[in-house]
Amino acid sequence: MAHVTGPWLSPDEVSGLWSVDEIERAARERMSAPLRDYLDGWAGSGEGARINREGFSRWLFRPRILHDVREIDLGTTVLGQPVRTPILLGASALHRLSHPDGELATARAARAAGSLVMLSTSTSTPPEEVAAVGAPGWMQLYWMNDRGITRAIVERAEAAGFSALALTVDAPRLGWRPLEYRNGDWETHGVAQTVFPDPWPEGLAIEAGLTWRTLDWLRGITRLPIVLKGVMTPEDAAIAAAEGYPAIVVSNHGGRQLDHAMSSIEALPAVADAVAGRAEIYLDSGVRWGTDVLKALALGARAVFVGRPVHWGLAVGGEAGVARVISLLSDELRNAMGLCGITRPEDATRAIVAPRAG
Ligand code: GLV
Repeated sequence: MAHVTGPWLSPDEVSGLWSVDEIERAARERMSAPLRDYLDGWAGSGEGARINREGFSRWLFRPRILHDVREIDLGTTVLGQPVRTPILLGASALHRLSHPDGELATARAARAAGSLVMLSTSTSTPPEEVAAVGAPGWMQLYWMNDRGITRAIVERAEAAGFSALALTVDAPRLGWRPLEYRNGDWETHGVAQTVFPDPWPEGLAIEAGLTWRTLDWLRGITRLPIVLKGVMTPEDAAIAAAEGYPAIVVSNHGGRQLDHAMSSIEALPAVADAVAGRAEIYLDSGVRWGTDVLKALALGARAVFVGRPVHWGLAVGGEAGVARVISLLSDELRNAMGLCGITRPEDATRAIVAPRAG
């Protein structure tokens, strides 16, 4: 079954798309209904996905004037790794559903833009091939209820050269996703999961019994830094920092896990206060504009990850589409920084935002 109706747009044609929203619209027109459903994939009523967008609207800028903003540098570091933009490519499954080059196209776009790829455990390209592209890469980890399989994923990520593990901690079970259920298991058609054993072992599932203490096992078997993805409360963020985790991702999983969870941008300020500089903080869920990125930086994130926009970029133009997503968000961010009177990501503090009244 074809999931996207080609032909894909050329880089020239892609450059005629002027926002992630436009890229999304163009992508949706080309995608099969099951692929659209899978990517939308929100939990329950879909309120969580709407809340993510509304959350960004609850913060407004306080632009400062008469600062020299001729030179704006988006460069920063994440876990010590230099990146040329704080817009990073988050874990999303099965990129070959949206373009035959799949995760290779994603990694090539990241490498060219000086960004970073967080490769999903549900990758449709072997991690070794993605790593060989040469973009900075972290491996997202679903801790499975078979420790042998979990260990094998970790060892493979280490051997391939991934420089961190991003452990998803907001999914002791997958969210309630009616949009996915109505299409059955369509997504495996023609697209292989390249990390999990094939055929899928009977009973294999995400481990539902993880606790702070069982995480010690993972820390004991890997030398890679472990990023906790899906931390939403100051209580948990404080534990993560006290336990010595070097980084967390504030994320409600793009509204795909708990319907009516608060938005990540609304969760961020209290999390940043609780962490108090002891760990790096990143944010995902609902980032569609450079202004969203700037709000996240102002409220305590060091970088953001985008998920669905990567698939939309792939569906529209493969590598060129993903490159367009990164460059649009980066240009929009640069523009918003200049209009706020700042020139470097670290200048984005709470002084440049205010909660919307009412
Ligand atoms: C998996 O993490 C998904 O959100 O589909």
